[in-house]
Amino acid sequence: MFDSTLLGRTAVVTGASRGIGEAIAAALLRSGADVTTLQRGPNSDALHALARELGRSLAHVTVDFADAGSVGAAIDEVGDTDILVNNAGTQIRHDAVDFPLTDFERVLAVNVNAVFQLSQGFGAPMVARGSGKIVTLASLLTFQGGMRVPAYAASKGAVGQLVKALSNEWAAHGVNVNAVAPGYVATDMNEALLADPQRFKQLSERIPAGRWAIPEDIASAVVFLCTPYADYIHGAVLPVDGGWLAR
Ligand SMILES: NC(=O)c1ccc[n+]([C@@H]2O[C@H](COP(=O)([O-])OP(=O)(O)OC[C@H]3O[C@@H](n4cnc5c(N)ncnc54)[C@H](OP(=O)(O)O)[C@@H]3O)[C@@H](O)[C@H]2O)c1
Repeated sequence: MFDSTLLGRTAVVTGASRGIGEAIAAALLRSGADVTTLQRGPNSDALHALARELGRSLAHVTVDFADAGSVGAAIDEVGDTDILVNNAGTQIRHDAVDFPLTDFERVLAVNVNAVFQLSQGFGAPMVARGSGKIVTLASLLTFQGGMRVPAYAASKGAVGQLVKALSNEWAAHGVNVNAVAPGYVATDMNEALLADPQRFKQLSERIPAGRWAIPEDIASAVVFLCTPYADYIHGAVLPVDGGWLAR
């Protein structure tokens, strides 16, 4: 599906060191974009090799999304971008009765505060110039409550509302603000579920498509929302979940 539609566009992707973010960065490179990643660690060798092969630019800025000062410095360093993908996210599991407030605040800082700060920092110039694409990673827990992840559920619910709030203000200025809500993807974030055979079986049997997602399933939808094909899509949270929410 990748057809150089984004040739000449610049894209910022957060949390592309692994998992879904790495697949999104790769898909954007394949679609023609030059990519800057924002994360703690360096880009993978595979991503560097792909950028070289395609003749695209791939840069990296170090940032900790739990630290607003670090996020602000990263926005200043990058300056301007045509596309922003807020992918980085964190999840902490405890029973709700034991959930430490510090962990709750950390999840909200990374999954909500940083997403707002990045959307505002990169979005303001988009609004001023009259074009731009912002896609944020939501979750099934934008719609459902989950188990033992109250901070994550609260944060992803907030992402769904933030997308609508920003879209209401920015759609008239040519800036598309949307979200993709992945179903279950086999990444490090789901280590605990993947390690529990009974829970894995329960979850897998409930997915109408009959399988978990691969990161590339999610990346395709994100790229679509970054192209002109999606110019009239505003304020949407697009489930890419193998039919989970329809069930
Ligand atoms: N996997 C799923 O089934 C699933 C389902 C629904 C939604 N999502 C969402 O999709 C997005 C990507 O998920 P994933 O499964 O690919 O997660 P992952 O494999 O755990 O990767 C998370 C990424 O976010 C970065 N990150 C986390 N906290 C950070 C911080 N404080 N500062 C800088 N970078 C930070 C990580 O960087 P480091 O390498 O430095 O840790 C990594 O690049 C998340 O927003 C997640 O909530 C995932």
